[in-house]
Amino acid sequence: MSGTSLDGVDAVLMCQADTSSPRMRVVGHHFIAMPYGLRQEFLALQSPQDNELHRSQIASQALVEVYTAAIVGLLQKTGIDPAQIAAIGAHGQTIRHQPSSGYSLQLNAPHALVEATGITVISDFRQRDIAAGGQGAPLVPVFHASVFNAPRQKGGCIIANIGGMANLTYLPPPGSEARVIGFDCGPGNVLMDAWVEAHTGERFDRNGQFAANGKKNEALLNQLLTHEFFAQKPPKSCGREQFNLEWIQAQAAPFKLSPEDVQATLLAFTARTLADAVRNYCGPAVELLVCGGGAHNPQLMQALTEELPNLQVDTTARYDMDPNIIEAAAFAWLAQRTLDGLPGNLSAVTGSAGPRILGNITPA
Ligand SMILES: Nc1ncnc2c1ncn2[C@@H]1O[C@H](COP(=O)(O)OP(=O)(O)OP(=O)(O)O)[C@@H](O)[C@H]1O
Ligand SMILES: [Mg+2]
Repeated sequence: MSGTSLDGVDAVLMCQADTSSPRMRVVGHHFIAMPYGLRQEFLALQSPQDNELHRSQIASQALVEVYTAAIVGLLQKTGIDPAQIAAIGAHGQTIRHQPSSGYSLQLNAPHALVEATGITVISDFRQRDIAAGGQGAPLVPVFHASVFNAPRQKGGCIIANIGGMANLTYLPPPGSEARVIGFDCGPGNVLMDAWVEAHTGERFDRNGQFAANGKKNEALLNQLLTHEFFAQKPPKSCGREQFNLEWIQAQAAPFKLSPEDVQATLLAFTARTLADAVRNYCGPAVELLVCGGGAHNPQLMQALTEELPNLQVDTTARYDMDPNIIEAAAFAWLAQRTLDGLPGNLSAVTGSAGPRILGNITPA
């Protein structure tokens, strides 16, 4: 998995508890940072570029070299032979997410990945759902539903993945007539990352320290909240198309705030939009469990706790699920669904016409 933050590649090895069980357990995890030049190229390819078709193919091959290194590292770490691996679920790098135009484009080179690893690859998970009229995102809620049964039993819970973008899954309490729902609720770390990098050169605001040196500005926060995405009802999804450095620069300019104050406001914006989504669309729940890189930002966790006083706010580590591995684990799980001929989407989440088997299989 390599997500919109472009921080790197997470490889997670999952194993089926037994062949009759839909539950899978995590065996190991290996992370490789995204090489600087490749990250810059992916950022450039988010918008129209000279010779972009050729460049996207070259970038795809470079990405697969990083995927290969992550997989080889993971297999070494866990002592597992490639012959024991059923498949790799390789998400690819999203450079355009435009379901309203009928596509979501993940750069990837599955044939090269099969050649490099000798393992079958499942790729292109989003396109089938979009072809069936859905958003193609988020795809993780069905995995969340399979893993977080314990907090659900306690009275319903919400899983919040705070990566580049933020998405929620609501798991209703037992006996409730409500269905599992999920949707993108707005920016996660993407604006905070872009702003801190523009002002300090750091790739992200470690532990929210830059934000902690500033003070949130209510007027700017209210201005940001007028973005049309927040007035839309789910199903909905978002990407760097809506939330990017140019947007925040244009929004913040008239307020003439210090960079730290803008950073504090962006952190509050992520917390507020997530909390608003919980209040508006999720039913009764006792816990909010955070995963993704945002779980490591204590300032953000504190802001969420203050926004949602009626919920127990914690990270997924509370249920022995490392917040760093959930997205990658979900795509291993989805790959297994594809191999088993089972649907991987939830139409209540994506808005598609029905359940669909996702992805392309490139056999070893
Ligand atoms: N110690 C930390 N303090 C603050 N922020 C952190 C910390 N560690 C990670 N992050 C944030 O988490 C981000 C990476 O999160 P993650 O890997 O979940 O996102 P992603 O790759 O975009 O995934 P996806 O979009 O698929 O959910 C970093 O860019 C950074 O903003
Ligand atoms: Mg990541």
